[in-house]
Amino acid sequence: MSSEPKLTILFTRDEITATVKKLAAEIRQDYQDKHPILIGVLKGSFVFMADLIRLLDFPLEVEFVRLSSYGGGKSPGKIKLVQDVQSKIEGRHVLVIEDIIDTGLTTTFVLEHLGKKKPASLKLCTLTDKPSRREVTVNIDYLGLTVPNKFIVGYGIDWNERFRYLPGIYAMEDEG
Ligand code: PRP
Repeated sequence: MSSEPKLTILFTRDEITATVKKLAAEIRQDYQDKHPILIGVLKGSFVFMADLIRLLDFPLEVEFVRLSSYGGGKSPGKIKLVQDVQSKIEGRHVLVIEDIIDTGLTTTFVLEHLGKKKPASLKLCTLTDKPSRREVTVNIDYLGLTVPNKFIVGYGIDWNERFRYLPGIYAMEDEG
């Protein structure tokens, strides 16, 4: 990969906005009377979470978890919890918010961790999904966009902490 990667647009800001609206409508339908807790997985989900909750006009709460992976990539046992939810989720309806599901290992870790806290329900919403990279089965309840097997950036998603600020979602092309 060259030092200045070439970015190719995959989804424009308008396309993402339409997708977030579609997801918000589905979530409103299912959760408007449930006072859910939406739990974002940091860091990548924060942009999506911010746009999503502003389209939800019913009582809800927001929490975040943060994970770290170490030792060169993700694999079972190499993902650790760095920041847990601050409030009690036992008996509550919980919706996990992700920006992307790739191997599925992070999401699986998060769902197992939160499931032990005995929520009334536990579901998953992701803005993007890259099924071609999946290593473990993940059941997605609310899915926005399916992306090809390319490194993607923008709308919260980074490459070495860069490009989270981009309003659209881009594929990084390997120029090498
Ligand atoms: C990304 C993304 C997901 C995870 C998905 O986070 O936000 O949490 O990877 O990958 P997986 O399905 O292969 O586990 P990342 O580790 O890049 O951290 P960040 O959100 O802080 O950028």
